Amino acid sequence: MTHSLKGRDYITTQEWALENLETLLDVSTQLKEERKTGIPHRLLLDKTVFLLFFDKSTRTRNSFEAGITQLGGHAHFIDSSTSQISHGESAKDTGVILSRYGEGIAIRHDLVPGEGNSYMREVAKWADVPVINMQCDVDHPCQTLADLMTIREKFGKNLKGLKIAVSWAYTPTYAKPVSVPQGLITLMPRFGIDVVLAHPPEFGLMEEQIEIARLNAKKAGTEFRIVDSMEEAFDGAHVVYPKSWGVLELFGEPQKALEIAKKYENWICDEKKMKLTDKDSIYMHCLPADRGGEVTDAVIDGPHSVVYDEAENRLHTCKAIMSSTM
Ligand code: CP
Repeated sequence: MTHSLKGRDYITTQEWALENLETLLDVSTQLKEERKTGIPHRLLLDKTVFLLFFDKSTRTRNSFEAGITQLGGHAHFIDSSTSQISHGESAKDTGVILSRYGEGIAIRHDLVPGEGNSYMREVAKWADVPVINMQCDVDHPCQTLADLMTIREKFGKNLKGLKIAVSWAYTPTYAKPVSVPQGLITLMPRFGIDVVLAHPPEFGLMEEQIEIARLNAKKAGTEFRIVDSMEEAFDGAHVVYPKSWGVLELFGEPQKALEIAKKYENWICDEKKMKLTDKDSIYMHCLPADRGGEVTDAVIDGPHSVVYDEAENRLHTCKAIMSSTM
């Protein structure tokens, strides 16, 4: 187990060198194998991670809680709305004080563009334990690491020539954050994958993240392009990742974004669109998915779907992140 990552914050994948991300992937694979074969790995005995949530969660909360338990430590769940944060306690005070009680602080703050990433950087500035991003407005680096692990399990380590379609998809439910597609388009090119991003005109991503994706692709000799059709993105793709997200300018008025989305109800991942993809393609989704909106049952429960392996890998990767940094 490497010690060189001890104390490092994990806020965006972009701030981590490829070799360090490779280490996290190797540790994830090792921990997955050890769990499968019943080998205990109590690497964080008696250590505490604080899980601070400004938003709801199923996978992230439970993979971190189960993960730290399997590592021999303990998690404290903190709902921001029932803590003194809701009375205005500062990020500085929260960071300093939680650092005195435990060994890691993980934060989800993803719903308001311009807020979550800044908040966790402010906590990290004052905390003297690592801060882990459990999803912010910019990136969801725990999710995309698990996604990369899943892609490697299906296609091997040499991903040169692989094409991923990251596409907007329709949902009638709520305006989902933009951090997953942004995390995918910035991370995947670094590992040799060609990326096609598809979305209707109103559903663009943060310009700065698009620029990072372009630069990463150029540096890695991979392709990054943006199209306005799910069908075009799916054509020949080996990995499809269709999911909904909101309108950047309308996160304060989600109903307006949902009204706009209604124009694009045909942006659903169905069997007809899957026929456009490579015959061995995989369907991915970070979940929760809107069945009947973003995807049909036939696809998410069908032969191309890897969503449960992908969700399982959230456990192994978050254990790797915690055990490497805490
Ligand atoms: N994919 C993901 O982050 O799931 P939760 O929102 O349930 O944590």
